[in-house]
Amino acid sequence: MKKFILSGLYFGGDYTPEHFPRAVMDEDMRLMKQAGVNLATVNVFSWVQLQPNEEAWTFDWLDEVMNTLAENGVGADLGTATASTPAWMAKTYPEILPIDDKGLPYHHGSRQTFNPNSPVYREKSAILVRKLAERYRNHPALCMWHVNNELSQLLNYDYSDITIRKFRAWCQARFGTCEAMNRTWGLHFWGNNIHDWDELMPPMRTAHQVNTSLLLDWKRFTNECYMEVARAEIEILREVTPNVPVTTNFLYEFKNLDYFAWADMLDFISVSSFPDPKVTNHPGEAALSHDMMRGLKDQPFVLLEQAPSQVNWRLANVNKKPGVMRLWSHQGMAHGSDGFLFFQWRASVHGSEKFHSAMVPHIGEDSRVFREMTAFGRELPHLREIVGSDVRADIAMVLDYNTWWTVEFTPGPTALLSYLDNLKAYHYALFEQNLTVDVVPVDRDLSRYKVVIAPLLYMIKPGFKESIERFTASGGVFVTTFFSGVVNEFDEVFHGGYPGPLSELLGVKVEEFEAMKPYVQNRVVVGDDLPGLSGDYDATLWCDILQLHGATPLATFGEDYFKGSPAVTMNEFGKGRAYYIATLPTKDFLKPFLKQLCAEQGVRPVLETPEGVEAVVRSRDGTDYLFVLNHNYEPVEVTLPPGWHFDLLTQIRVEGVVALGPVQTLILKENPT
Ligand code: GLA
Repeated sequence: MKKFILSGLYFGGDYTPEHFPRAVMDEDMRLMKQAGVNLATVNVFSWVQLQPNEEAWTFDWLDEVMNTLAENGVGADLGTATASTPAWMAKTYPEILPIDDKGLPYHHGSRQTFNPNSPVYREKSAILVRKLAERYRNHPALCMWHVNNELSQLLNYDYSDITIRKFRAWCQARFGTCEAMNRTWGLHFWGNNIHDWDELMPPMRTAHQVNTSLLLDWKRFTNECYMEVARAEIEILREVTPNVPVTTNFLYEFKNLDYFAWADMLDFISVSSFPDPKVTNHPGEAALSHDMMRGLKDQPFVLLEQAPSQVNWRLANVNKKPGVMRLWSHQGMAHGSDGFLFFQWRASVHGSEKFHSAMVPHIGEDSRVFREMTAFGRELPHLREIVGSDVRADIAMVLDYNTWWTVEFTPGPTALLSYLDNLKAYHYALFEQNLTVDVVPVDRDLSRYKVVIAPLLYMIKPGFKESIERFTASGGVFVTTFFSGVVNEFDEVFHGGYPGPLSELLGVKVEEFEAMKPYVQNRVVVGDDLPGLSGDYDATLWCDILQLHGATPLATFGEDYFKGSPAVTMNEFGKGRAYYIATLPTKDFLKPFLKQLCAEQGVRPVLETPEGVEAVVRSRDGTDYLFVLNHNYEPVEVTLPPGWHFDLLTQIRVEGVVALGPVQTLILKENPT
């Protein structure tokens, strides 16, 4: 895959000068210059401002915005404006309005209220996007295209006749005959077979649960519908402006779409990243999200939206304390972000988001937030050289969106199961020890990794068994858990027991499983077989009762009728080893367990740091950039690797033990010459 590298280190925010009197734009330019802003996201929701009725086009205001930006050395992340449809369109063409799962229509208002499959929406969007591309193709401000906005965030299903007909055709193309679909999905269950394509319904309101294979394919279909919306725009943009990069903002911890399927369409990945700044937030949460975004294309990404301080959509919206905006931006960069954009430049004075923080708050420039932004912006030229470098990771964590969907909509074995929480348990255990992780899809080449972890890999798609066996046989360490290897890509359970195709690799079979109530726990009892661990640990959420088929038990369950049965196993496979964890152990188990596995593979922490201090390395052509991030609200001392280092932020040499203030960062150029 050819790596796309951005041409600068971008800094700025969502910019809506059309919402303010004209004079404010001059003020904005002065302040942008003061803060060092070099990119503004414009025109995201402005369709109606460009096309107030079907016949009229009014680009003059956007011309002025683009010209003003260019004159002031600020680039544009130019929105295609398709995220909010004009009122006239809903009035003239009500088919553009989506229908909910009870058959009721949505109404005009708000944003993203469009049926992704409406031919009218598609046609009108294409006209708009072509006009924009042709008008601004040679504009000096145009840096990148911002397709639509956070597609499928607010509305991710449509049940209109248009969409239902399209779904039927999609299924017909997929399965050929109703009989084949009935068989593959198992529609005989509860007598749901169909004999004519017209009988097929998407999962709308019914008395009881809908077939899970149907749900899965409906979700895949919907994902493809939104991909078509984006692709239609991208094709026009690529045709008219082949040299302008294209992105669309993805979302933090978002499962509606299969982002791995989307990644190839885009030149680079960008994300709206809004972790909760409450003091109890685990800093690994953002780290995992960043690792997911970097993993989508295996290249750097851009933080296209962060909150300068608080958002307005949580129950209670906590501020980013002084220094946290800078710390979290640096954390983003440590994990691969090559840009820092914020929602929003200037606080809006109308509508739903007027109490969302902004780089320029309502009070104006004489404010903590703007001062922090200005100080942050002034440092950025020192970090420019990091753009395009890679994050170094020897550990891969497998993420599969289809698994994420199915484990959470499948009734039983436990409604308490969260796919992301299971990923987090493993990721946090590594994160807290400065063991860096790449997040990868099931079909990525694994040969460059030394350890591959696939928590809860419920669905095994064709090719994964071979790929993970190859990886392990050639010396890799593979770790997986309960509820893995259960179904094929159609959500049909593998015959002969789980972990299905992974049974031989893991040397175990699951005979029974039990989900635990929140207040019930079992124990993982460790003997002498796991270095660094002894005694017993909490086992939560789930217990598999395993049969051994070649694997060695390393720990056993401590309670219940299956006391003494294996809780953790290891199977030698070729030159490598495959581990199975039959429960969700707590961090006190996972940390030493994973650290030991990594150490045996020669994978060491980036740096030994005090608790709450993160260390990550980015590298390029033999130059390393060591990020040391103090997530604590207290000062700490950090012992640096031997030798001296060049501190890019302060531009001085450092060595030995350094003091790091609360929420402060070191970004060190290693091996400086
Ligand atoms: C998203 C949207 C923005 C704005 C912010 C508020 O990221 O893209 O338009 O609504 O959320 O947090």
